[in-house]
Amino acid sequence: MKKVYVGMSADLFHFGHLNIINEAKKLGYLIVGVLTDEAIASYKRLPHVPYKQRKVIVENIRGVDEVVPQESLDYVPNLRKIKPDYVVHGDDWKTGVQKETRQRVINALNEWGGKLVEPTYTDGISSTQLIKAVTEKGTTPSKRQKTLRRLLDVKPVVRILEAHNGITGLIVEKTKITTNLGIREFDGIWLSSLTVSTSKGKPDTEVVDFSARFQTIDEILEVTTKPIIVDGDTGGDIEHFKFRVRTLERMGVSAIIIEDKIGTKRNSLFGTDVVQEQDTIQHFAKKISTGKNALVTSDFLIIARIESLILKQGMEDAINRAKAYIAAGADGIMIHSKEKDGKEIVEFCQQFRTFEPALPLVVVPSTYGHMTEKELGDLGVNIVIYGNHLIRSAYPSMVQTAETILKTNRCQEASEEYCMPIKEILTLIPEDY
Ligand code: SPV
Ligand code: MG
Repeated sequence: MKKVYVGMSADLFHFGHLNIINEAKKLGYLIVGVLTDEAIASYKRLPHVPYKQRKVIVENIRGVDEVVPQESLDYVPNLRKIKPDYVVHGDDWKTGVQKETRQRVINALNEWGGKLVEPTYTDGISSTQLIKAVTEKGTTPSKRQKTLRRLLDVKPVVRILEAHNGITGLIVEKTKITTNLGIREFDGIWLSSLTVSTSKGKPDTEVVDFSARFQTIDEILEVTTKPIIVDGDTGGDIEHFKFRVRTLERMGVSAIIIEDKIGTKRNSLFGTDVVQEQDTIQHFAKKISTGKNALVTSDFLIIARIESLILKQGMEDAINRAKAYIAAGADGIMIHSKEKDGKEIVEFCQQFRTFEPALPLVVVPSTYGHMTEKELGDLGVNIVIYGNHLIRSAYPSMVQTAETILKTNRCQEASEEYCMPIKEILTLIPEDY
């Protein structure tokens, strides 16, 4: 009997998938390669339905003889193993981002004389449309919350960008580019203390307190679906911290990062230019364990941020603290540095991975921005946070607009040179959702 191979995500299963399976079954013994979560996340968003469930669904479709995991968007590794006589795929991939994948399939099939069969794509229904409709509908607190752990499970590096209000939340939610490896977008949102304080015209000293921070978080939750990591500053008083984590957990936030400083907090990027005091290991460890004990679920992460390198306390202190915070129950470690060359980050990550193979490691490469996500990922970093870039880019252009109005005594030049058209701003935010 001839062997037939079909690769599919089968995320939101529909009639078009059935058509392909029916056509493929006519040709012989049908093996379906279901793309793993890792494979899907490598070229677009995390699937709505996890691999285990998608596998069971496809196994139970009439006509399917066998299901195997397809671990990359590229079919070739599975094809070389299985050597099917036929590969069946809808003809829609002749153009667009999948063109290259298709060519690789044809080349591989030529190695043993296999054939590509391409039934006409079923009009009027597509996974992309369905996924768009589901995503636009919104999310629930618990679904959103779990997404961060799911991303950590399947992506080499989780990519996070700061937001400080609804509109910047929307930018992180919606900005996408198409690359030859698929669609690239941000995985989640960082609620930076620096950018939210700055947007309110206040310094980053915890003067914008959590009553105000909760409002901003809610504003962003309202208009986005991606997971949120909250910058918890020092976490405050231990007794207050346990209430704070429970509120965030209930809201559907995925993680809080607290830094091991005490007293009036100053932004880390001042380094030792200002007075900043580091907490004792013992006191900070107690804060972590108290927070962990207060949580209702295991879906919410408490990540401990180490300030030893910022405060010039040395690598050994940073490593000792990492060990102590993990022992206290931290779900992840953020190591911060303001050195431009990135060398101390490289050294910390290498040492960290010798005693802690899997715990999530977070960095904020504001000053060592030459390092790519790939380089950081290769060092064992799991989450890269772009901590302040939306406000830093918005502010200069707003000042330029204000200055231009002053210079010209009217708004025409500023409007034409620096502003988006009025029609666009009116329709930027749809009236219903
Ligand atoms: C923030 O974004 O507020 C941070 C990161 O805490 S940093 O500004 O580098 O301290
Ligand atoms: Mg901060």
